[in-house]
Amino acid sequence: MFNKDELKEEVGKMAASQIMDGQVVGLGTGSTTHHFIKYLGKRVSDEELDVVGIPTSYQSLILARNAGIKITSLDEHDIDIAVDGADEVDSNLNLIKGGGAAHTLEKIVDYCADKFVVIVDQSKLVDTLGAFPVPLEIIPDSLRLVRENMANRNVEANLRMGVQKDGPVITDNGNFVLDCQFGKITNPEKLEVELNTIPGVVENGIFTGVVDKVIVGRESGVEEITK
Ligand code: A5P
Repeated sequence: MFNKDELKEEVGKMAASQIMDGQVVGLGTGSTTHHFIKYLGKRVSDEELDVVGIPTSYQSLILARNAGIKITSLDEHDIDIAVDGADEVDSNLNLIKGGGAAHTLEKIVDYCADKFVVIVDQSKLVDTLGAFPVPLEIIPDSLRLVRENMANRNVEANLRMGVQKDGPVITDNGNFVLDCQFGKITNPEKLEVELNTIPGVVENGIFTGVVDKVIVGRESGVEEITK
């Protein structure tokens, strides 16, 4: 019997084993990519693997530095491969991300990578997206207006609150996060585009048509799903 964190560790390790010498690597955010970054750092020190990382958050920046991975930026390099976690993965390999409020930079990094690999434990697989709320990173001044927009669609929208910090979560970019409960999302491609047209929305957590491979940690072992 594996617990969830052990499954996350297995997929993080597997993804790290697939990184090749000389690659520029997008470093995702969250508890699963935490393991990926740790094992990638181990390969850097054990095998002198020559890679550079582009972080998607302060979390992945700090983890990568501690793991001994060299850091670069999108100004300087294109990305060969990005490895990131997800909150939901549907049968067409569309995603909901942003459980850690890092989806804006994750989307920039993951979408421009030559190859995008998602690492998840089996609990993240769904037929249709939507049980997990869609996070919207919003400019603080737009809070009332975006909330009203969601209310007009009968969508419950909750301002994400801090833990061990009074008041709302502030993203790495200085914004708020509204968690929006759409229910079953039948057309994620359309909703992804539509949400970003609302004034004040910086980025939403729906990722469509961009995943090359999902590495899933199951009780029975690690499985790779490609389109
Ligand atoms: C960060 O904002 C998210 O997109 C994470 O990548 C996602 O929530 C997956 O996180 P875990 O690996 O911690 O489940």
